[in-house]
Amino acid sequence: METKTRENWSSKAGFILAAAGSAIGLGNIWKFPYSVGTNGGGAYVAVYLLFLVLIGTPLMLAAITLGRKTQLSVFGAYKSIDKRWSFVGFLAVICGFVILAFYSSVGGWVLYYFKNAVMGNLNTKDPKVLAGIFSNMMNSPATLIVYQLIFMALTMLIVINGIKKGIEVTSKVMMPGLFILLIIIAIRSVTLEGSMEGIKFLLVPDFSKITLEVAKNAMAQVFFSLSIGMGVMITYGSYLDKEVNLLSTAVSIPALDTLAALIAGFATIPAVFALGFEVGEGPGLMFITLPAVFASMPLGQIFCIAFFLMVTFAALTSSMSMLEISVSYFVDELKKDRKKSTLAVGIVIFLMGIPASLSLVQGSSFYIGSLSFFDIYDKLSSNILLTTGAFLLSIFVAWILTTKEAVKEIELSGIRFKLAPVWSFLVKYVVPIGVFIILFNSYKDFIIALLN
Ligand code: PHE
Repeated sequence: METKTRENWSSKAGFILAAAGSAIGLGNIWKFPYSVGTNGGGAYVAVYLLFLVLIGTPLMLAAITLGRKTQLSVFGAYKSIDKRWSFVGFLAVICGFVILAFYSSVGGWVLYYFKNAVMGNLNTKDPKVLAGIFSNMMNSPATLIVYQLIFMALTMLIVINGIKKGIEVTSKVMMPGLFILLIIIAIRSVTLEGSMEGIKFLLVPDFSKITLEVAKNAMAQVFFSLSIGMGVMITYGSYLDKEVNLLSTAVSIPALDTLAALIAGFATIPAVFALGFEVGEGPGLMFITLPAVFASMPLGQIFCIAFFLMVTFAALTSSMSMLEISVSYFVDELKKDRKKSTLAVGIVIFLMGIPASLSLVQGSSFYIGSLSFFDIYDKLSSNILLTTGAFLLSIFVAWILTTKEAVKEIELSGIRFKLAPVWSFLVKYVVPIGVFIILFNSYKDFIIALLN
């Protein structure tokens, strides 16, 4: 019933913008730079790039192909090919809830910083003052929750308005703007005196730093950053016309996404070294460091305002894709009203997110074992749920749909997929085995951390 009446993207560019909009978000701008900092710099970047090429990009193609072939969103896509695989759609819904519960918390921080940028409160280079602003926010439960609520409300508003209007229009304006801005900031950052050490930290891998922990985090980050493993790309791909070249599409999204992450890395890390911040700072890194970069630029406040505004939009194009997956389950599968479903799901996610935010307040008791609720949602979503989803996606496309069928679908647009044997080999063997090894360890470490 869905197939005939579904709207398609008004253009391929529209799809790429929306898919890139889902991929490019806080994962690139906020999480990637600080993860580079806490996971040993260049070594982490190298492992990230390796996983991106061998695992992330082949899976991107698998996901988009599965979506376009079935013309169904994640639940229908698996179910229509093999009923026993319906549970993957369910997993995706749960994943949407868990990710958004903490993503909205960070989205709230960005909004709070936007407000402070407008009020001119961030205009200083002093690391102590900037660290103070961040920790004041972290220690004010009311601030955290109010801004998280505003972020969730914005996400819900966009999702209520439906796929095309909401997603395409916003992405078209904001994405290019964000790139230009990030490049300007990166240029300022690498030209600061003393930035060389940061550039080296980012680019020169110290291979002795590659541990299982680093590999685990890099893989989770690949899936998180590409929005792979919870059906976003399957669902978005289902809106594509049969004429669209899936190959170039599946390569451009990871390419754009990685470019954004690397530029964000160059915007942040060299400045960390040049201006005397702490590279292992963790989740606060971007919020503490970047205002100091703006303060070292002419028209700094304007850049600062524009930056937090655009990051807000980047975060929203990602958050709405998460919410969309969960909502479309209620709309498509359970035949519920779109508006009511969005409100209900959004409110539940917000409520789930409250302990995530409160767990950041100093002395909070929102912990299980050694993990705060914020960390639990973060790890549970990326290391466990997305990684499990990515594993299942590779098995499904390789062995249930079969790569042969997938290649047929890819070649429908009239192109020859010359690398088909390589891709098939990766999706059949390299991806599932590689992901399984990491996944096994992620489960183990997660359980141990909860018990400790
Ligand atoms: N890729 C998004 C980001 O980097 C996060 C995301 C994960 C979005 C999973 C949708 C699904 O911010």
